[in-house]
Amino acid sequence: MDVLNLSLKRIFWVGVVVVLALAASPGVGAAETDAPSDAASQPPLVPHSIDGYKITHDLNECLTCHQPPANEKAGARKVSDAHYVWRKGERLDKIAATRFICTQCHMAKPDAKPLPGDTGGRQ
Ligand code: HEC
Ligand code: HEC
Repeated sequence: MDVLNLSLKRIFWVGVVVVLALAASPGVGAAETDAPSDAASQPPLVPHSIDGYKITHDLNECLTCHQPPANEKAGARKVSDAHYVWRKGERLDKIAATRFICTQCHMAKPDAKPLPGDTGGRQ
């Protein structure tokens, strides 16, 4: 009986110590207010409509405007440098396969309008 009592007491005090340690640690609780650093890795929303732009093995219409040097003429931001980096960190000379399907990560804003000059009707 005494042995059991002793271990129950021990478990209780270990619990108290853990709770106090968690409460005192700066990481806990701060996590929720840490939104900005997390938001930095969110894919930006596409401000224009993306309906009809094709992404196939041979053709990626997003890249016709977003890949340098074509992006300058199109007035579009070039894809992030991170899009050329492969899994182990090596830099490729073309977009990494994991980044090729742009629309997997980049969604159009709900109110996105077609770009000027886009006549629509693409298949
Ligand atoms: C005809 C040219 C053109 C095509 C094709 C095009 N875009 Fe854009 N895109 C633009 C322009 C112009 C802007 C506005 C300037 C900017 O922010 O880059 C833009 C903006 C964006 C942005 C916002 C960038 C930022 O940092 O806020 C994203 C993301 C994007 N486009 C993704 C795409 C994806 C994905 C596709 C294919 C489904 C695509 N675009 C096809 C021209 C194009
Ligand atoms: C796996 C998810 C993912 C895929 C796939 C992806 N992107 Fe991104 N993209 C991101 C994230 C996250 C960011 C913001 C962080 C960064 O700059 O890397 C970003 C940033 C961008 C930007 C803004 C760059 C800047 O300097 O502000 C553009 C433009 C863009 N992507 C276009 C594209 C296009 C075009 C494709 C397809 C060829 C594509 N992305 C595929 C996740 C993705």
